[in-house]
Amino acid sequence: MIGQKIQDSLNAHVTAELYSANLYLAMSAYCESKAFKGFGRWLRVQYFEEVEHAHKMLDYLVARGGVPAVGAVPAPPRDFGTVLQVFEKVLDHERHVTQSIEELFRAAVSERDSAAQVFLQWFVAEQVEEEANAQEIVDKLKMVGDRSSAALYLDKEYGKRQRASK
Ligand SMILES: [Fe+2]
Ligand SMILES: [Fe+2]
Repeated sequence: MIGQKIQDSLNAHVTAELYSANLYLAMSAYCESKAFKGFGRWLRVQYFEEVEHAHKMLDYLVARGGVPAVGAVPAPPRDFGTVLQVFEKVLDHERHVTQSIEELFRAAVSERDSAAQVFLQWFVAEQVEEEANAQEIVDKLKMVGDRSSAALYLDKEYGKRQRASK
């Protein structure tokens, strides 16, 4: 049986993952509206990944006999600035999510919930990847600067991203 504290934290995190999903969906549409179809595609794939993160947490809660709860998801912003600023915001957001996962993990340690610790390890590793991916795009867009041909090349490359098959 899952403890109340971990259950509440996991439920709160489900809503946070859904916010991430909607944020990236909004960013995806924004990039597409600015003719960056490739980055739009990349962010759309990221949107699906975030939805899967929420599902993963809900599945765990149910498996542990918890009471799953999906909270209200606040609306994301509409304007994200330049394409570099979009990905700087992605990186900032992922750093914030990492903090939240770390807090969850610390709660699992202090509650002596070893199953939750093992479960959350996947998310700890995932956040390393998420931050690295966002950081790489930010770094490349900074290299590109004002050179639109290079920006369009990156847009094309990142547009090749596919949804991971399960
Ligand atoms: Fe996530
Ligand atoms: Fe990921």
